[in-house]
Amino acid sequence: MERRLSNIIISEEGQIAWITLNRPEKLNALSTSLVKELSNAIDELEENEKVRVIIIKGSGKAFSAGADVNEFLSLTPFKAMIYSRRMHELFNKIQFLTKPVISCINGYALGGGLELAMSTDIRIASKASKFGQPEINLGLIPGAGGTQRFPRLLSSRRLELLFTGEMIDAEEALRLGLVDRVFDGEVLEEETRKLAMKIAEKPPLALTAIKYSVHYGNQSNIWTGGALESALNGLMFSTKDLQEGVKAFLEKRKASFKGE
Ligand code: COA
Repeated sequence: MERRLSNIIISEEGQIAWITLNRPEKLNALSTSLVKELSNAIDELEENEKVRVIIIKGSGKAFSAGADVNEFLSLTPFKAMIYSRRMHELFNKIQFLTKPVISCINGYALGGGLELAMSTDIRIASKASKFGQPEINLGLIPGAGGTQRFPRLLSSRRLELLFTGEMIDAEEALRLGLVDRVFDGEVLEEETRKLAMKIAEKPPLALTAIKYSVHYGNQSNIWTGGALESALNGLMFSTKDLQEGVKAFLEKRKASFKGE
């Protein structure tokens, strides 16, 4: 099932939903209307019980080249602050969504495009992809979480890359830990699909608990994070999926998880 909106395409494939950013002629720049459509699509797919994993990709030669620069000249400081806050809300929503979200990066992931990718749980990239926070070159700083998520993800070259606005290639992004895996462009979608299908077979409530334990836990100290982990671990014992998982193990068969 495929639905084409003005700026994105939503397609469902069994338990996986693909969101394609679809402004290839503008390298999928994140216009205000694209951001609204993406935000609504994320809400809708979270509520859709059939969907277990969401993949975001770009059409054409980019994942996304970032915020739509055409909208910048008419922005007042106050409107820019609101726009930035909305991007934060959307990317926080993606990070803390109850379902795993994967970025399938097929080219440029710059500025807001990289900030979007960084808010997802897993990043798979084609070898030809390019990454960067080039805002500095426009006299700007990242406004959708870049100064927060970028340093948290990278162990080295953090401020260097933010100060210079330089792009790095996929191999360097892999070395720095900015992306999880890198593949040739021809097999990128197939490899992303394979991983999404593997995750989609796992118990959905436990996936949510892992996301919450990792993402909320990492915002806090080790004791608070540990307490959250223990509480979520305990909560799993109230689910039917735990009963099914344990029984399937003891009966030496494959478990079938329902998200209950
Ligand atoms: N906002 C709006 N339009 C954008 C855009 C953005 N962030 N990035 C690319 N585009 C548009 C270009 O203006 C061009 O439109 P046109 O054909 O109507 O002139 C089209 O997308 C193709 O881009 P182009 O620059 O011609 O492609 P390229 O292959 O020569 O260069 C990039 C690719 C990514 C290096 C270059 O487009 C770029 O630097 N983009 C801006 C990236 C950026 O600064 N992002 C952060 C914004 S805060």
